Amino acid sequence: MLQVIAASSYLARQPNTDTTPHLEKIDRNARLAQSIVDDLMALARGEVHTEPLYVGEALVAAREGMPLGAAHFEDELEPALRAFAHLGLMSRLLHVLYENSVAVAAPAAPKIVTRGYRAGERVVLEVQDDGPGVPPEIAPRIFDPLVSRRPGGSGLGLALAKRIAAASGGSIALVPSERGALFRVDLRGSG
Ligand SMILES: Nc1ncnc2c1ncn2[C@@H]1O[C@H](COP(=O)(O)OP(=O)(O)O)[C@@H](O)[C@H]1O
Ligand SMILES: [Mg+2]
Repeated sequence: MLQVIAASSYLARQPNTDTTPHLEKIDRNARLAQSIVDDLMALARGEVHTEPLYVGEALVAAREGMPLGAAHFEDELEPALRAFAHLGLMSRLLHVLYENSVAVAAPAAPKIVTRGYRAGERVVLEVQDDGPGVPPEIAPRIFDPLVSRRPGGSGLGLALAKRIAAASGGSIALVPSERGALFRVDLRGSG
């Protein structure tokens, strides 16, 4: 996002360039960055306002800004599935999972299946990829801050995901699976 802003500003400064598309890109990405900062500030203050949210909306928002073709998405959502959540933060959580699947599978594009279903009063979301899976030696610690096994990783993604889940009255876990990595998010259902 910030890289896109820097690159667009560079391109806009080239001689004989139509600046409009570059400026539009800068505008769009600056707004996106601002909304993430706003969400993170709200989370840091512990003020997470949750409301009934269509899970499908969070899935779409989570994929905004991902490079086209970075992953093959397959969704299996129960119809009209809603959970108590905050759109910005829930899409951030899903984005963390998608981003990790893509980073770990690179340069290949992973297949990422997102399932969503009701379980009594709860709503369960599962994100499963077909990558190499989480190395077993770090699996017990991946939700701790600064635990990373990839070059350029900060180790903050899953720690944030865990805080978002908890602040929404839910939880997130890595679930043993036959293939790839499988993350399960448990939320309060809302019909
Ligand atoms: N889908 C996945 N497949 C395999 N390993 C993963 C996956 N998601 C996370 N991991 C492992 O967990 C580590 C921590 O992830 P994260 O907290 O997002 O930090 P970062 O992505 O900055 O390394 C990653 O470095 C990686 O080793
Ligand atoms: Mg990450």
